[in-house]
Amino acid sequence: MNITDIARNVFYCGVNDRVTDKFEGLWPLPQGVSYNSYIVKGKDKIALIDTVRIDEVREFLDHVHAISGSATIDYLIINHMEPDHSGSIPVVLAEFPDIRIVGNAQTVSMVKGFYGITDDSRYCLIKDGDTIDLGERELRFYLTPMVHWPETMMCYVPDVRLLFSGDAFGCFGALCGGVTDSEMDSDRYIPEMYRYYSNIVGKYGKFVEKAIAKLADIELDYICPTHGPVWHERISEVMDIYGNLAAYRPEKGVTIIYGSMYGNTAEVAEIISCRLAQRGMRNIRVHSATHSSMSEMISDAFRYEGLVVGSATYSMRLMPPVEAFMSAMETREVKNKVFAAFGSYTWAKGAALGALREYAERMKMPVVASLTMQQSITDAFRAEAEALADAVYDALTLK
Ligand code: FEO
Repeated sequence: MNITDIARNVFYCGVNDRVTDKFEGLWPLPQGVSYNSYIVKGKDKIALIDTVRIDEVREFLDHVHAISGSATIDYLIINHMEPDHSGSIPVVLAEFPDIRIVGNAQTVSMVKGFYGITDDSRYCLIKDGDTIDLGERELRFYLTPMVHWPETMMCYVPDVRLLFSGDAFGCFGALCGGVTDSEMDSDRYIPEMYRYYSNIVGKYGKFVEKAIAKLADIELDYICPTHGPVWHERISEVMDIYGNLAAYRPEKGVTIIYGSMYGNTAEVAEIISCRLAQRGMRNIRVHSATHSSMSEMISDAFRYEGLVVGSATYSMRLMPPVEAFMSAMETREVKNKVFAAFGSYTWAKGAALGALREYAERMKMPVVASLTMQQSITDAFRAEAEALADAVYDALTLK
């Protein structure tokens, strides 16, 4: 079997990106990312599922032609319009002048807006549950809005029980030869899935849950996302990961995020982490907000039940990286956390802790423990930090 063959007459034609530093201009890509595209052949018609970012279009077209040969492509299915997938639409249209763009009403509006393709005869408009016949093979469409944009949809091929899932079940990490999880050691993609979901899709948990519920009765042998491996052997595992993240169902562990200028606030974080370890917690992640990537901090905070955030006072507020982190938490409507906060100050008592409390209140996240330290650690502040760690540990439901 060729490495691009996924199932009978379903092929991979995506590309890897190992040069972009930051996805969406924000999120680091230490292991790169893949932009996945697929070709489905029926007896009579051929469909291309999504395209790739415009920068990789030449390699993409080579892959498409290697699979389609002299045949033309009849349909371009647009499951998602974010330009990492839609960027090559104009080039594909030029390459296959008779191709019809398949999408829902929101897709069409976005294609017109992004790429100026106003000729309505180029579009094949579909609704939820519609099908397209490729000849002895059907494509069935499921609208899954806000996973991750309003137009997002999925496309199912019943005869091989294969789902093109868009961003859902995707992850960071370029492909390294193999495409399907059965062709690789796919363990390294799992942390990248947490990071991808929490960074990119995280705000839209209830829509992800709706989409997963919609798929409940579909038999699945393959999930083909727009990023990362095709899932075949690990389908139930990746569905559980997405289901848990979407429902804000945490895992056992505590994330500690702190902002420190001269090491005094950092010392509080170290005391808390040591105390948690003494109590038996094994999964502890500590991040200096100034040095860790926002991406990793969001990922860990999403994943683990305990969240402890501390900051030195800075211009009567939080250290800016801590402020940015809390804002990211609020934007993503993070919930179901055992949350504790600590601040430090030299003369403005309570400013940093007060700012953390404001976030917690807006996010309806109870503060199980807090402390505010003046200037530097003392025996009394050490005892308070250990008591804070004890309060967090005792409040955890997952120990
Ligand atoms: Fe991979 Fe939402 O685009």
